[in-house]
Amino acid sequence: MGISEAISQVEKLLGDRLSRNAAVREQHAKGEAHIPGATPDAVAFPETTAEVSEIARICNVEGCPIVAWGAGTSLEGHLSAIRGGISLDFQRMKKVLEVHPGDLDVVVQPGITRKELNSELRDTGLFFPVDPGADATIGGMAATRASGTCAVRYGTMREAVLALEVVLADGRVIRTGTRARKSASGYDLTRLFVGSEGTLGIITEITLRLAGVPEAQAAATCAFPELEGAVNTVMETMQIGLPMARIELVDEAQIHASNIHSGLGLPEVPHLFVEFHGTERGVEEQVALFGEIASGNGGKDFAWAREQEDRNRLWSVRHDAYWAARTAWPGHESYITDICVPISRLAEVVLSAKDAMAEKGFTGPLVGHAGDGNFHLQIMLPPDDPTAEDRASKLASTLVDQALAAGGTATGEHGIGLGKMKHMASEHGDAWAVMATIKKSLDPGNILNPGKVVVVN
Ligand code: LAC
Ligand code: ZN
Repeated sequence: MGISEAISQVEKLLGDRLSRNAAVREQHAKGEAHIPGATPDAVAFPETTAEVSEIARICNVEGCPIVAWGAGTSLEGHLSAIRGGISLDFQRMKKVLEVHPGDLDVVVQPGITRKELNSELRDTGLFFPVDPGADATIGGMAATRASGTCAVRYGTMREAVLALEVVLADGRVIRTGTRARKSASGYDLTRLFVGSEGTLGIITEITLRLAGVPEAQAAATCAFPELEGAVNTVMETMQIGLPMARIELVDEAQIHASNIHSGLGLPEVPHLFVEFHGTERGVEEQVALFGEIASGNGGKDFAWAREQEDRNRLWSVRHDAYWAARTAWPGHESYITDICVPISRLAEVVLSAKDAMAEKGFTGPLVGHAGDGNFHLQIMLPPDDPTAEDRASKLASTLVDQALAAGGTATGEHGIGLGKMKHMASEHGDAWAVMATIKKSLDPGNILNPGKVVVVN
């Protein structure tokens, strides 16, 4: 009985696709953030839904935890195997199963990454627009309701996922949703599993909405003398309904880090990184309108990137922001935060976050998917200060409290994992207990990513 029996049975099923190797287990102990890891007892590499179903059935009988694993880019400790068990790595399930260009959708296995999917779609005139920066897997993105830089225009995984195949804790395989664009048929289980962080079921197939590659695209950076002018530009842009494809806030500390890390060469003042999608005429109009709003708030020094290569370079700088900060503050750990507020409250909350960081004697960059009211303060932890982590955690909690008071949420995109558990009660009240009821009914043995999102025992 128990974890070791489950692992032996899974080994019989998978042969050498079940690994007990210490280095492999260590690679599956944590994501990319400061949250401490915990090593699984084994790592399984399934190839089919039938195998995932059989693994779940075995683990359910034996009470062996299962932590689903995509690319390992999580930032809140979702992947730590805090009760041991099996890490279920989807790297061998990464096929594109169906492409339906006429319907603008695609059916994929969970282990494909977003960049791999986009390169497979290259000749279709379509693309998958959800872009969290990291080259995460589609399964992981669905499980964490990921979003990122393009969500302001194209939505998050909440909008992108049309249908799922899910293996339940007892091994049953269910399908939620259809390829129809809308449905009034029953409870919306697709959206229940999207963002459930592997605690309610294991996603084995995803049907995604795609977008048409726009006729024209233009990206730009725009400098502001003050952060306030940049944030006010974002608020006004969103309030008049300009269909921004991306509108990213990048503060002076992040520009400094990216100048060092990527040779960005921009003046070290707050910036917006923006992108416009549409027809040639549409993009021209958007650019002109945005230019007026930005200038009205002190914006200047527009640097345009119209060619694909230049746009890619610009966005890869933004995508590398987190690692750029790690380079610019050598020897420092970092504590990344992720709050999201209604757009009209963004300026106030961003400015007070910066002030609070300075008051506590910390430095570090602030970046944000500002069009969605979502931003990150990356608090850098000096290596010689044993109190730093604790103080950063308190500062991060204050930011969350402010976000909640402003009508916002403890996490816009990084999710709950272990890092945000402490805010679930204050954000959700009795609704958190309802989440636990759902968890107990779908996973009564608490084998699916136990200890995350809800507390059931
Ligand atoms: C970003 C990641 C940290 O926005 O979410 O860069
Ligand atoms: Zn982000």
